[in-house]
Amino acid sequence: MWWRSALLMWLFLMLRTSEGFTICSYNVQKLNSQKISNHRHTLTRLLSRCDVALLQHVSDPDGKVVRTLLNTLNKFDDFLYSSVSSDGLGKSPDLQKYVYIYRTGSVEVLDQYQYRGPSSFLRPPFVVQFRSNRTAIKKFFLVPLHSDPDQAKDEINGLYDVFQDVSRKWNNQTLCFLGDFHAACAYLTKSNRKDVRLFRNSSFSWLIGDKVDTTVSDDTSCAYDRMVVFGEPLLKAIIPRSAKVFDLSKEFKLSRTKVMSISENHPLMVKLKSSTLMLQATPLLLLLLSVIGWLSLSDQ
Ligand SMILES: *[C@@H]1O[C@H](CO)[C@@H](O)[C@H](O)[C@H]1NC(C)=O
Ligand SMILES: *[C@@H]1O[C@H](CO)[C@@H](O)[C@H](O)[C@H]1NC(C)=O
Ligand SMILES: *[C@@H]1O[C@H](CO)[C@@H](O)[C@H](O)[C@H]1NC(C)=O
Repeated sequence: MWWRSALLMWLFLMLRTSEGFTICSYNVQKLNSQKISNHRHTLTRLLSRCDVALLQHVSDPDGKVVRTLLNTLNKFDDFLYSSVSSDGLGKSPDLQKYVYIYRTGSVEVLDQYQYRGPSSFLRPPFVVQFRSNRTAIKKFFLVPLHSDPDQAKDEINGLYDVFQDVSRKWNNQTLCFLGDFHAACAYLTKSNRKDVRLFRNSSFSWLIGDKVDTTVSDDTSCAYDRMVVFGEPLLKAIIPRSAKVFDLSKEFKLSRTKVMSISENHPLMVKLKSSTLMLQATPLLLLLLSVIGWLSLSDQ
């Protein structure tokens, strides 16, 4: 019966969203139409795991790349996805966009803003405020950075100025920095870390530690990609130890070479806790699912 499959679908979607809210970050190294057609399946599988995904290094002057990605994703997944993008940033001809892909049913964009200074960045952060009633924290800011490797230390240090700018502008400090900061190895040495305010100030929690390897290659072990949150409230709203590298070759059983041809960096993921309402609803949803399952079986 049609209503039974509709109900099943709805329950299934509710359950999928009740296990925490996933934020992803991925430096896709020149994501263009070619790369999408070569890796359509892998990219959609990855993105369909994220409530919000921040993609870095998207080469998309006319918006066609993101449109193709959304079309593919919306055909593949039961959720509906939308996007918000910065302008092309950096130096021509390598203009790069920060692109957020998000599930419209679970999160909405409240505000967006392009940082313009005084701190200087090759690709200044494109800040977006999200609201999700499915999360315990409700509202939060995401602040992306794909740093210029040669300026990594100064740019990561500059994130503190962006933080101050955001807290002044919105009178709120619930924010998470994320992206390929190049925050390790030769680009940010151990002795340089003390010059970085986000490292010095213990109110900032680095969810991806210095020992994590965010690179795909076996030859390098560097924590280039990071997630950093400010303050207790947001830290408490995160599922402990959920911030990690998502190894596409392990998760999707792909060869390293294939994964490398998408990007030399791994995607990152972190989970926010569900709102209490969602948590309380989960056992009930499971019960309903089994009752419907049983009913359909006994029908045959
Ligand atoms: C979330 O809650 C706020 C305020 O409680 C409400 O205005 C908003 O419409 C809700 N959003 C969704 C998507 O339900
Ligand atoms: C900032 O926003 C969060 C999430 O909506 C809220 O919990 C917090 O109280 C706010 N903080 C301030 C200082 O307004
Ligand atoms: C860390 O940053 C916060 C926010 O700007 C500030 O209130 C606090 O005083 C700083 N702590 C230290 C030790 O500098």
